Amino acid sequence: MQIGTTLTRFIIEEERQHPEATGEFTGLLTELASAAKIISRDVNKAGLAEVMGITGRTNVHGEEVQRLDEFANSLVIHTTDHTGRLAGLASEEMDDIYPIPDKHPRGNYILVYDPVDGSSNIDVNVSIGTIFSIYRKRSASGVTLNDFLRPGREQVGAGYIIYGSSTMLVYTTGSGVHGFTLDPSIGEFLLSHENIQIPARGQYYSANEGNAPKWDPAIRHYVNYLREDDKASGRPYSARYIGSLVADFHRNLLKGGIFLYPGDAKSPRGKLRLLYEAAPLAFIVEQAGGAASDGEQPIMDLQASELHQRTPLFIGSSEDVATLEEFAQGKRAPEGIEGIRVSSV
Ligand code: AHG
Ligand code: MN
Ligand code: MN
Repeated sequence: MQIGTTLTRFIIEEERQHPEATGEFTGLLTELASAAKIISRDVNKAGLAEVMGITGRTNVHGEEVQRLDEFANSLVIHTTDHTGRLAGLASEEMDDIYPIPDKHPRGNYILVYDPVDGSSNIDVNVSIGTIFSIYRKRSASGVTLNDFLRPGREQVGAGYIIYGSSTMLVYTTGSGVHGFTLDPSIGEFLLSHENIQIPARGQYYSANEGNAPKWDPAIRHYVNYLREDDKASGRPYSARYIGSLVADFHRNLLKGGIFLYPGDAKSPRGKLRLLYEAAPLAFIVEQAGGAASDGEQPIMDLQASELHQRTPLFIGSSEDVATLEEFAQGKRAPEGIEGIRVSSV
């Protein structure tokens, strides 16, 4: 009986279409999938697996590090640092880059990742995720910070795992977006969503509206626009916000919609990080026919100048992001209010 297409088989068949591929990428993706299976196992029994609660440490962002953050961070390192695919790694939970130590063989790929996205939801049994982004290094020998500070357009692969009602791995290498669901009974990710395409216009908007008083008025006007009753344009949209970027993004990817994390008066660049949250999801959403913007330009064109750089993030259905940009750039405003330019963040 055909068990369905496994992730490994799918990646190998996809890689065969790239003659220059060396199998390194397949190996790296397979290793990330292995780490995901272990994280999924512990997430699914969080209360029993000693992975709940905090470590007492705070990370470079001043956020409390959850035990699962730390566990997942080191699990990814130990799953990928000795197989000769990577030159270095960087993650939300490490202040600086992590060059592969001399004792291990080194490869040509760079991995940037958010080991657990939505950490505040671990202890309350709400979906969380892992986000990863892969580049080919630029340095001839060794690896430096400049190998990591890249525009998203230079990614060779990106993906996320969502630990929800099921565990899914969704990734792209630039030939479409494909989703695999973990069958725990055989420990395999099986193809369940081939060539995901996001609807051009959505039905959901996702934002932490508790921050709305601090947003630029133009963003408030946009959200008010989504709330207006106009059947012809599918409004009002429904508000859906889980507080885990991966979970909010995944729902909007499948159903259509827009996720917003604007900059505001207190934090002009917002909260989310460019290299391991915004850029990988931007690669995925563009490959699925959607869009990702900082309000002014595509996320994929942004060049990071520091490892943990933040960016405002508006991501999802192409027509929704385009409408958001019209409001954000003062090209559109509610009737009776002059165009308001969003201060460049
Ligand atoms: P992380 O757990 O990796 O720090 O990410 C949390 C992020 C993201 O997952 C989510 O969309 C956002 O924080 C929620 O922020 P607010 O609680 O400010 O809404
Ligand atoms: Mn995150
Ligand atoms: Mn995180």
